[in-house]
Amino acid sequence: MGTRIVGTGVYIPKTVLTNHDLEKMVDTSDEWIRTRTGIKERRIAKEESVLEMAVKASEEAIRSSGTRAEEIDLVIVATLTPEKRFPSTGCLLQSSIGAGRGFAFDITAACSGFIYALDVADSLLKVGRASKVLIVGVEKLSEIVDWEDRSTCVLFGDGAGAVLLESSDSESDLLASRMYSDGNLWDLLYAERDGFIKMRGRELFKVAVRNMEEVCREVLEEAGVEPKEVDLVIPHQANVRIIRSLAERLEIPMEKFYVNIDRYGNTSAASIPIALHEAIKEGRLKRGDLVLFTAMGGGLTWGAVLMRF
Ligand code: ACO
Repeated sequence: MGTRIVGTGVYIPKTVLTNHDLEKMVDTSDEWIRTRTGIKERRIAKEESVLEMAVKASEEAIRSSGTRAEEIDLVIVATLTPEKRFPSTGCLLQSSIGAGRGFAFDITAACSGFIYALDVADSLLKVGRASKVLIVGVEKLSEIVDWEDRSTCVLFGDGAGAVLLESSDSESDLLASRMYSDGNLWDLLYAERDGFIKMRGRELFKVAVRNMEEVCREVLEEAGVEPKEVDLVIPHQANVRIIRSLAERLEIPMEKFYVNIDRYGNTSAASIPIALHEAIKEGRLKRGDLVLFTAMGGGLTWGAVLMRF
């Protein structure tokens, strides 16, 4: 039995914060932000809580899949900005959407959270420990961004994306995946308890490109797929220059990379499921296509997943 994506949903916060708005807050410029990162604007969850965003994205994913919430027996939430210290946002979400008897938990892997969740969900589906799995990437990074630090505050945004997975005997499947972490490099990107995001951007940039290239090659090789056979790459949206370097190194044309960082900035664990939802809606991803997901984030953590959609 394979693992199939049967529904997706998103929640995009209402408040838009443009580069021009940021020019009034810190010593920066629209030109600097656009050319260094590719970001034009991002969304800020002023009124919405983490749980509310997760619930809205999940409801859309459940609706689009035709599944009943009671049938969901596993909820995984990837976030570094949970609703409460505990219980997990996964447990709160399980209750809010009326999911059935089963289990729920959170994954903290920063920007790689969604890749980790996808890999863990696939493993649990394949060993029969779950039959319908809801995975959600949700972040309210605006709460942990130092709005006086121009080197980080221009980069991040808020939002949520949800995906419903189930076992299926169709052609769809997760073909290969790899998760990695290297805790020795934790201090390249972190936030202390109740502290703001701290980042050594220039160093991270190089590690991000190198690690994502390596892990993408690894999953492609394991699946016996040539880079040129991939129909769509959905990378974590941290910086368009990172995405361009990755495209060059993998020799996959930029047209095959889904990019929406211009509208949302870096939404950490939410970036890949939001991009996936939009790619499906825009007809960029069709049944039978080969889609490659990859991310790198604080931890450090990184990974890649190759799927037949
Ligand atoms: N506006 C104007 N100038 C700025 C700004 C700003 N917002 N921020 C920094 N600068 C200045 C710096 O002070 C520096 O000035 P100096 O040369 O006088 O010292 C200059 O711009 C260049 O700074 P760099 O940090 O070298 O700029 P760089 O080209 O590396 O871009 C960036 C910075 C965008 C952060 C980039 O390094 C990057 O994207 N890094 C990777 C981020 C990433 O991948 N994060 C991981 C995922 S996130 C997660 O896990 C939550």
